[in-house]
Amino acid sequence: MVVKNICCLGAGYVGGPTCSVIALKCPEIKVTVVDLSKERISQWNSDKLPIYEPGLDEVVKACRGKNLFFSNDINNSILEADLIFISVNTPTKTFGNGKGRAPDLKYVEGAARLIANIARSNKIVVEKSTVPVNAAESIMKILKANQRSGVSYQILSNPEFLAEGTAINDLLNADRVLIGGEETPGGEAAIEELCAIYEHWIPRKNILTTNTWSSELSKLAANAMLAQRISSINSLSAICESTGADVAEVARAVGLDSRIGPKFLQASIGFGGSCFQKDILNLVYICESLNLPEVGAYWQQVIDMNEYQKKRFTSKVIESLFNTVSGKKICIMGFAFKKNTGDTRESPAIYVAKTMLDEGASINIYDPKVEETQIYEDLTHPLISESPEHVRKHVTVFKDAYSATNGCHAIVLCTEWDEFITLDYEKIYDQMMKPAYMFDGRKILDHENLLRIGFNVETIGKRLGRPFVRRRWSSNPAVL
Ligand code: NAD
Ligand code: UGA
Repeated sequence: MVVKNICCLGAGYVGGPTCSVIALKCPEIKVTVVDLSKERISQWNSDKLPIYEPGLDEVVKACRGKNLFFSNDINNSILEADLIFISVNTPTKTFGNGKGRAPDLKYVEGAARLIANIARSNKIVVEKSTVPVNAAESIMKILKANQRSGVSYQILSNPEFLAEGTAINDLLNADRVLIGGEETPGGEAAIEELCAIYEHWIPRKNILTTNTWSSELSKLAANAMLAQRISSINSLSAICESTGADVAEVARAVGLDSRIGPKFLQASIGFGGSCFQKDILNLVYICESLNLPEVGAYWQQVIDMNEYQKKRFTSKVIESLFNTVSGKKICIMGFAFKKNTGDTRESPAIYVAKTMLDEGASINIYDPKVEETQIYEDLTHPLISESPEHVRKHVTVFKDAYSATNGCHAIVLCTEWDEFITLDYEKIYDQMMKPAYMFDGRKILDHENLLRIGFNVETIGKRLGRPFVRRRWSSNPAVL
């Protein structure tokens, strides 16, 4: 089989960009991205795509209607396809066995059943969603149990490593593409088919082939190790704030060791995004299922440290504001979980907003790319607030940073958007309540300049404004 027709189930943050790039690089292949959501598909077919991702508009415009299609006609698309990507969501279970830890595989299972019901010819089914180890086996069981005569399947694991905000670059210049499959002649042939697609633009030496389990576990391992670096530097940021050290200097000194490297050592308010927490919880759950509690506890600590960091930073805001934010107006600058995306899933800004609201503050929010409706949806979610009315009354969303900061007691910077670096902070200071506070949760601002203007400034991993009083260390812990 030479793949001429690809179907992707799931037109989300992974399915959309990944298949757009495949269409761009493989003009001879017809790529159809399908979704259950009519709204999402109509957005993909409009001028305003459902997700903001630098460079994505250009890729979609170059291919849409030629060899790239977005459709709700799932059945036909499956029927026509030689190869099907499963790129559906795999959220953490919110009920029953494994609640709060195990991934909910109902969408993956639903996709497998859909394929089994509809397929009339041989298919290569590619698991692109992030799944637990052994998920390919479950998909195969469902497909085999419902197999029509004359139809055969090969299942591959091809996890996606793109990061939001840099997805197009990550896809075009992937460090590696990972393909796992069965070590049988059929499995190896399917792996070769998928390699041939990626080889349109990825050098063969960067395409790694492994067995299915290694591929599935590598995805969870990569996310766990990336998140672990952030939790490690964030843990050190707490030590820096209690001493005279600067976490940026520590990160630089540590990262210059070529064995450690400089990336993912940016201390922050804590990591967010739809995957780090979900995938580590998944890993912890696997460890527990395999009776490896010590291994599970080790990875759980990465999440616990992230929770601690969010809480520590938010408590610092309240303590600095004379221990109460009740009746005060706080501006949250940035609501997305990182810059260059409009995605708010697990964004630390949600935690900050929730705490401020619970403590009686009113909040003004500005983010360059997050829609107002999304902000209200996040903050009125039952897990965040018991009273949607309270949220609507005390949260105002603004279209620019200057109006959002007007009359506020404090600014809490939660997302590292570039435009926040170059704002006119003299102007902002003049229109704020005094004393005016700036809490830089991303370490991106010019703190010396802010102090000169008159702000009280707090950031992550560095003491500012207050002179460091050198402690006398004693061997007796009671006499510090
Ligand atoms: P998403 O929620 O943005 O998109 C998933 C889409 O799948 C939704 O639009 C949903 O309607 C659709 N869907 C569900 N069941 C379907 C079905 N049976 N048929 C057709 N469509 C169906 O999720 P996402 O962020 O794109 O993530 C998808 C997977 O990729 C997850 O497993 C995630 O862990 C993984 N992943 C995500 C990223 C990322 O940056 N977001 C990166 C790498 C891997
Ligand atoms: C992450 C991984 O980087 C991708 O490889 C993976 O494919 C993806 O998860 C996934 O499986 O979904 P993403 O969450 O989109 O990508 O973005 P990251 O750049 O990893 O950032 C995640 C969070 O960590 C953000 O909140 C970011 O601000 C924070 N972060 C990142 C830090 O606090 N410090 C850093 O040094 C780096």
